[in-house]
Amino acid sequence: MRSERAGAFRLPAQFQVSRTGGGEAKRPAAIVAAPGGGRPLPHDSILIGDCLAEMASLPEASVDLVFADPPYNLQLEGALSRPDQSLVDGVDAAWDKFADFAEYDAFTRAWLSGARRVMKPAATIVVIGSYHNIFRVGAILQDLGFWILNDIVWRKANPMPNFRGRRFTNAHETMIWAARSADAKAYTFNYEALKAGNEDCQVRSDWFLPICSGAERLRDEAGRKAHPTQKPEELLARLILAASNAGDLVLDPFFGSGTTGVAARRLRRSFIGIERDPVYADAARRRIDAVEPLAEEAVARAPARRSEPRVAFLSVVEAGLARPGEKLTDAGRRHSAVVRSDGALALGPAVGSIHKIGALVQGLPACNGWTFWHVERGGRLTPIDELRATMRAAMRAAE
Ligand SMILES: C[S@@+](CC[C@H](N)C(=O)[O-])C[C@H]1O[C@@H](n2cnc3c(N)ncnc32)[C@H](O)[C@@H]1O
Repeated sequence: MRSERAGAFRLPAQFQVSRTGGGEAKRPAAIVAAPGGGRPLPHDSILIGDCLAEMASLPEASVDLVFADPPYNLQLEGALSRPDQSLVDGVDAAWDKFADFAEYDAFTRAWLSGARRVMKPAATIVVIGSYHNIFRVGAILQDLGFWILNDIVWRKANPMPNFRGRRFTNAHETMIWAARSADAKAYTFNYEALKAGNEDCQVRSDWFLPICSGAERLRDEAGRKAHPTQKPEELLARLILAASNAGDLVLDPFFGSGTTGVAARRLRRSFIGIERDPVYADAARRRIDAVEPLAEEAVARAPARRSEPRVAFLSVVEAGLARPGEKLTDAGRRHSAVVRSDGALALGPAVGSIHKIGALVQGLPACNGWTFWHVERGGRLTPIDELRATMRAAMRAAE
């Protein structure tokens, strides 16, 4: 791992570029021509400096995803102690202090504008925050023309208790996910892959994850936390998997201990991190050095379901792959229904689609009939989704 001053890449004097490496992870930082032939983008680098100046030095419309964990402006009033009088290791760093809300809002407006400038038209941004700042961030995002897609609640499995006992335990943080503008419809959301990894259910906007602790928590030689607000890698991995593809460029203007770089590198995205404090930047660089990227097949883009030809269950019946009068069952053979000649299923007097009848027998509001229902073929229960796959293969072969 080397730390280099600008010059080497002909970046402006205020840049200090740290290049990351390690195994496959030890490849030198690639320098890629910026869109439009401008300054090269410092891929896989930590830029040490103020994010306003550093973002202004990056070419317009050059990044695919922004993750930002800005100062929260926590407004802590004095030291906080536990019932046993030990001190709580809260965030009281100078970088989190602002004179008043107006100063915080002006700062937020400035860095969000800088981030918007470097976002490609289809890029998205995720900003994480707590009740102290997230409502202000949300309003400013909307004022600047961003289009909010979701607010995701990170429910903490192990939140810090409320020691003063005068409020509810603060057990979540909020992430606002926004597109660059309302008409930016082509943003990345890996819907099918996320759903496939979630037992074929749509992924919800409330995530239950522990805060960063144990071996994952970066510590200095004295065993103290290297950074007060290190985020869990899994949180970043979920966001990056959802909103970017392998090879994409992720920008984090408040890099801290480098969690975004760790997740990006592991998932074969490239990153640019900006951090004002060289001590944090150095800790981040060493942390990222130790990361081995996953195998390419483990992170390759999943084919979008929509690119597959649509197949109705009636077509499966018409093709003779499922026979009228035949019984379908679930994998545990607890429920059964009869295939009708019109491609619907019959369950006693009830008639409906494979999805409707699947939901009915389970008492659920919805069901994916293709994966729920099975047919007996060669002495083995086969999901009817396999019959659909046979149909699709035949349709492709006929093209
Ligand atoms: C909330 S922490 C980010 C923590 C990070 N997500 C992690 O997992 O370690 C915010 C970081 O932004 C840095 N910072 C604050 N203001 C900055 C600015 N104007 N430009 C660049 N970095 C800044 C702070 O030094 C701090 O490390």
